[in-house]
Amino acid sequence: MNRWKQLARGASMLGTKKGPQFEIVAREDFSDVTFLLEIRHPLMAKAAKPGQFVIVMSHAEGERIPLTIADFDRGKGTVTLVIQAVGKTTREMQQMCQVGTSLHALVGPMGVPSQASGVKKVVCVGGGLGVAPVFPQARGFKEAGAYVIGVIGFRTWKLIFWEDKFRNCCNELIVCTDDGSVGVRGPVTEGIKRAIASHPDIGEVIAIGPPVMMKACAEATRPHKIKTVVSLNPVMVDGTGMCGGCRVRIGGEVKFACVDGPDFDGHQVDFEDLTTRLKRFAAEEKSALERWSESCRMKIPPKSATGDTLDLPDPFEEVRGG
Ligand SMILES: Cc1cc2nc3c(=O)[nH]c(=O)nc-3n(C[C@H](O)[C@H](O)[C@H](O)COP(=O)(O)OP(=O)(O)OC[C@H]3O[C@@H](n4cnc5c(N)ncnc54)[C@H](O)[C@@H]3O)c2cc1C
Ligand code: FES
Repeated sequence: MNRWKQLARGASMLGTKKGPQFEIVAREDFSDVTFLLEIRHPLMAKAAKPGQFVIVMSHAEGERIPLTIADFDRGKGTVTLVIQAVGKTTREMQQMCQVGTSLHALVGPMGVPSQASGVKKVVCVGGGLGVAPVFPQARGFKEAGAYVIGVIGFRTWKLIFWEDKFRNCCNELIVCTDDGSVGVRGPVTEGIKRAIASHPDIGEVIAIGPPVMMKACAEATRPHKIKTVVSLNPVMVDGTGMCGGCRVRIGGEVKFACVDGPDFDGHQVDFEDLTTRLKRFAAEEKSALERWSESCRMKIPPKSATGDTLDLPDPFEEVRGG
């Protein structure tokens, strides 16, 4: 679809509904910083495909932020987002987005849908927050008749979520934890190595997580010449290919992640360029968070419900999984 049409389609979804807009019908907190929102939007649920994302404004003055469609239920007419509170907007959403409240705007579905077919055996890898966006791809491959091996990785057992959902849609599931508290000790690349060792006929690997993780996954599959798809999440502004904010380098060419991706060939991605660009606005992001925290009289770092200091994730390491 051309970029103007995509923009027009997005705009037509903004603020056209009567009554409560984009109502939050369910919320689940996976940890002190990660939470799920299920939002009523029958049209979006009908149109959504694995690999796509939405642009969200939680209130009229809020920032537009891209979030991956982590699940959709056409019967219920809902889409699900899994969010990690890392900065001003996501922390604000963590406070304000409760069941019964509504988002101000939800634009999408955006991005090129993932090719969840044409492969007989696939490994779907999610690291941390990346577990959520890889789920619809795993389910899509399963529905297309593929043999699906899931590899999901977390720092520790307390942070594990959606293990059941993966067990239901994968033929095999390998859980990895950095501290070895559950499953295989080590990063998701350990899971990939095990999958490759027992299945020499793997046709494709999909890996979603922080850039450092996706890069490691691409390096783990390169010697085996297994096609490896990663989902890139550079800073986005309009999400329609107009601003150039999300430019990434793929095989020496410039691409816009919002309209050419976000999925790309992991063996072709310039991860160094991506990481450098992700850090470009670090000072502005820090001061926006400080201003917001001061305005709502929160201390930095914030306290959890139990009074413990929250261990906020490093956005560069944690969030890029989308
Ligand atoms: C296609 C795509 C899908 C994404 N999916 C998810 C998801 O499912 N769940 C999730 O928690 N996060 C996701 N993200 C990241 C999310 O958009 C950022 O965490 C969010 O914009 C941060 O805003 P903030 O104000 O809370 O933090 P800030 O302090 O502004 O930024 C914190 C981090 O987020 C990055 N960031 C800031 N603004 C943007 C922006 N407009 N676009 C992209 N990155 C930005 C910064 O580089 C920094 O690393 C996705 C990003 C992209 C591009
Ligand atoms: S977000 Fe503006 S071009 Fe992609």
